[in-house]
Amino acid sequence: MKKLEEKIRNCRKCPLWQLRTNPVPGAGSYDAKVMLVGEAPGYWEDQQGLPFVGKAGKVLDELLASIGLSRGEVYITNIVKCRPPNNRDPTEEEIKACSPYLDAQIDIIKPKVIVTLGRFSTSYILKKFGFTVEGISKIHGKVFEARTLFGKVYIIPMYHPAVALYRPQLREELKEDFKKLRELLNSIKI
Ligand code: URA
Repeated sequence: MKKLEEKIRNCRKCPLWQLRTNPVPGAGSYDAKVMLVGEAPGYWEDQQGLPFVGKAGKVLDELLASIGLSRGEVYITNIVKCRPPNNRDPTEEEIKACSPYLDAQIDIIKPKVIVTLGRFSTSYILKKFGFTVEGISKIHGKVFEARTLFGKVYIIPMYHPAVALYRPQLREELKEDFKKLRELLNSIKI
């Protein structure tokens, strides 16, 4: 993983490298059973080279703590590793250029559970594992079960924590979805 993270730090596969302060490969345990996949770094992540260290990260920390998980026990990354200008949505080309890194991270970590945060990572991960993609409002909190070369993986799509900053209703839904994650982890003895 260290080699892969180094490769990401030197990546120039899409134009975002020209604008970044730091790429954000990901952080957490390489033995994690749970992997969380967000969208792309924002201002603070770009400054620090770490995922989810801004306001959305604070929400994520609270959600993890609410089900007894710490950052050290999970691996957190994004589908796009460099900050898009003004935090705009990542483009299809950027996702195409960057997603092989996410694929490689999944192959190395071999998570039992992948939590997708927001529509971009949800859509990418569900397609990757052969599911039809529906709107996040329809499928958040549902557990998808997929087979991989390294065994079974459960996927739970969720809203992006940033939405909780301005929509209290969605914050409640995120909390409920994290409870479902806890139930799943209990049921598979993690
Ligand atoms: N939003 C994301 O999707 N990822 C981060 O790392 C920070 C904010």
